Amino acid sequence: MSAQSQPLPPRITGLGYVRPLGSGGFADVFQYEQDMPRRIVAVKVLKTAVREARDRSDFESEADAMARLSSHPSIVSIYSAGVSSDGRPYLTMEFCPESMRVLTIGKPAPLAVVLDAGVRLAGALETAHQAGIMHRDIKPSNVLLTTTGRPVLTDFGISMLQNQFASDDKRHALSIPWAAPEVNNGASTGTVASEVWALGATLYTFAAGFSPFEHAERAQNTESKMKARIYQAKYQPIPGAQGYQPFDEVLRTSMSAMPERRFSSMQEFAEALRTLQRSYGFDVTPLDLVRPDWVAPAADFSAPRGPVVTTVRTATRAQQRAELRAQQLSENSDGVLIDRPRSPLKAGLIGAGIGVVVAGLAVTFAGLAFGWFG
Ligand SMILES: Nc1ncnc2c1ncn2[C@@H]1O[C@H](COP(=O)(O)OP(=O)(O)OP(=O)(O)O)[C@@H](O)[C@H]1O
Ligand SMILES: [Mg+2]
Repeated sequence: MSAQSQPLPPRITGLGYVRPLGSGGFADVFQYEQDMPRRIVAVKVLKTAVREARDRSDFESEADAMARLSSHPSIVSIYSAGVSSDGRPYLTMEFCPESMRVLTIGKPAPLAVVLDAGVRLAGALETAHQAGIMHRDIKPSNVLLTTTGRPVLTDFGISMLQNQFASDDKRHALSIPWAAPEVNNGASTGTVASEVWALGATLYTFAAGFSPFEHAERAQNTESKMKARIYQAKYQPIPGAQGYQPFDEVLRTSMSAMPERRFSSMQEFAEALRTLQRSYGFDVTPLDLVRPDWVAPAADFSAPRGPVVTTVRTATRAQQRAELRAQQLSENSDGVLIDRPRSPLKAGLIGAGIGVVVAGLAVTFAGLAFGWFG
């Protein structure tokens, strides 16, 4: 593996480069135009190239999981994945014009927007958890807004890739304000309980305009000071907001120091948020869950990849007739095979043929009987 310092857009067949969209701790994101069908897409390219076959197959497995999860309406849609000619893995995904991070830095979002986003994101995470997948990096910059303004979670499983393909502490530092105490001190790499904390901290940030353990004085926000406050887990109610007390209580539960005191699942967290929506008189957001058997990897996911060979056999006419008769038999509820009526043209031709033969025989017998032939 080799580190890539310049954010150079890779050449990708079928995509035309448009412009850079930004860079995070371990990836660069570019806008491209897809040729067929023609549309704008975002391409996330890992900064580190993969050279080993095992790294490549790890990336492919992660991409599979992300793509299957992305059928959830609150998870950014993944269109395709690959490794560029210079070895950098990339994901082609839905272009999202805005991020919740940018929208809410120093500018609190209305409570109705925060609760709606919370239920949607909890539904996405419950779906992932039921399929045994952890996000591991829930934070405002990983909540994007689609072209319809709907919040969607991105970077699913990407943190796993980053752990594998890069040893960049800087990126971990970017996630500290939203990570649970047991994740920040290295005791856990991610559980349902630590995800509940991270979602709570993310919703706090949307509602307050700053993260829950951030200090007004910049000098107090060094990594060690921030972590020390997170370990204490002393919840500070969202300042300056009227009537936020019930919301503060839900967030306080989600950010309990003891993991077992937090909501036991994302579904439970979502229900608490939906109860708040009802009591505040807001629209109640439906909890979308994708069936876990659809999200979980299929049995043949380890099959070698390559061009798909079409294996459709062309049936002979005799086979087609046999299949049709079998189908008619199964459609007949009594299980009795009913012969299809012949077509009138075919029946007429057969009748005419039989008539000609009978007439010919009659003429022959009459001729013989009356000695016409001789
Ligand atoms: N699908 C997308 N559509 C449009 N812009 C995107 C998309 N995905 C990411 N971006 C933008 O690209 C930039 C970099 O994103 P990236 O996820 O690499 O970093 P980050 O989320 O800021 O930090 P981190 O590396 O910790 O995840 C961000 O400004 C982000 O909003
Ligand atoms: Mg991100």
